Amino acid sequence: MALKGEITLPGDKSISHRALMFTALGDGLSRIENLNPGADVNTTKNALANCGIHIEDKAGVIHVQGGGLRPFKQPEHALNCGNSGTTARLMMGLLAAHPIHVQFTGDPSLSQRPMDRVFRPLQQMGANVSARNRKLLPVMLSGRDLWALDYELPYASAQVKSAILLAGLHARGKTSVKSPAYSRDHTEQLLGAMGAKISIEGKTVLVEQLTKPLSAVDIVVPGDFSAAAFFIAGALLVPDSDLIIRKVGVNPTRTAFLNTTMEMGAQIDIVNKQEIHGEAVADLRVRYSHLKGVTIHPEEIPNQIDELPLIALLASQAEGETIVRGAEELRVKESDRIHSIVTNMSAWGVKIFERPDGFSIEGPGTLKGGKVKTFDDHRIAMSMAIAGLISKAPAVLDNPDCVDISHPGFFSELRSLLS
Ligand code: S3P
Repeated sequence: MALKGEITLPGDKSISHRALMFTALGDGLSRIENLNPGADVNTTKNALANCGIHIEDKAGVIHVQGGGLRPFKQPEHALNCGNSGTTARLMMGLLAAHPIHVQFTGDPSLSQRPMDRVFRPLQQMGANVSARNRKLLPVMLSGRDLWALDYELPYASAQVKSAILLAGLHARGKTSVKSPAYSRDHTEQLLGAMGAKISIEGKTVLVEQLTKPLSAVDIVVPGDFSAAAFFIAGALLVPDSDLIIRKVGVNPTRTAFLNTTMEMGAQIDIVNKQEIHGEAVADLRVRYSHLKGVTIHPEEIPNQIDELPLIALLASQAEGETIVRGAEELRVKESDRIHSIVTNMSAWGVKIFERPDGFSIEGPGTLKGGKVKTFDDHRIAMSMAIAGLISKAPAVLDNPDCVDISHPGFFSELRSLLS
């Protein structure tokens, strides 16, 4: 059995959320192709519709009727953000300057994730916000006139950076956000392509108040690199694999996983590179490879934060020790991903050691296989399903359906590549 052939992945989840939200501020009709079909992006679609934005699916192309500078209406219901941190956090920034009252709710996982990291800076800009235990959902937001802010992020979070920049579009003056390390820059790229006055100076992003609506655009969302990463890992691990992944986003603020795997010895070719709306897109050819352990330093974490469960899996099959440090942000994702990955890998016999800010692994070792606790976390479920391709016993996931958050066709597409 090997992974062979070609695959095209669903649209990038991060870019899809942003495409929907930003085109709502557009001057007329925008069209989005290859929008991510998962539950998280659907949550953003529903939240925007709830705020009066007209969104229609016409033969797979999403039409968003932008409403200009003040497009949002008072929603009739709470905005249920489901499992989606990006929906909750970016929508808070997007709506903070609009004269509406919004309650944000979420599922049990999202309801435990910190929201104060977003609404504290928004409060400093003048937004009126209250929250359960002063940091958790449900959050109540009453939009108001905002003033600009110069904000220094304590951690490299693209969600928080984006929320502040979105609020900054409607704040009096020039807003700046300084990050301690580079995080994904899809917000900067797309806002710039739509005509916002946005500039990047090293690790600081500056945005000016909009004086006219963003331009309506036609967007083709690149394939999701984070979805590709599961297939890359599968092809690297299963002997004889040779897989081509077409039209995947390779924005450098997302692809540190490629650098890490290549340092581990991965055979990956990046070909047919092109650029759309500031986003690099390419085809990847991935072949089964002999891997060796690697040390990932804190500054290398943000640009591969969602791929770290896969690094644990690759490390379990690599020669020598792998060390991941400075990844404490993993503890506040859809699950505590350090705990989730250590629990599953240890249960399968991997020599993995938990640290407060990461883990270390001694490889290579045999994966026993068997039961998997997904913690209802899509990335843990998909990582362990890939692990199941090389384990002695097959992987048995307690909640396989949670992959629908980002990649509903994951299992059928994986099966179609196995020969
Ligand atoms: C995302 C940013 C990251 C990432 C998440 C999506 C985004 O979160 O883990 O899956 O779309 O901006 P943080 O901003 O919390 O690092």
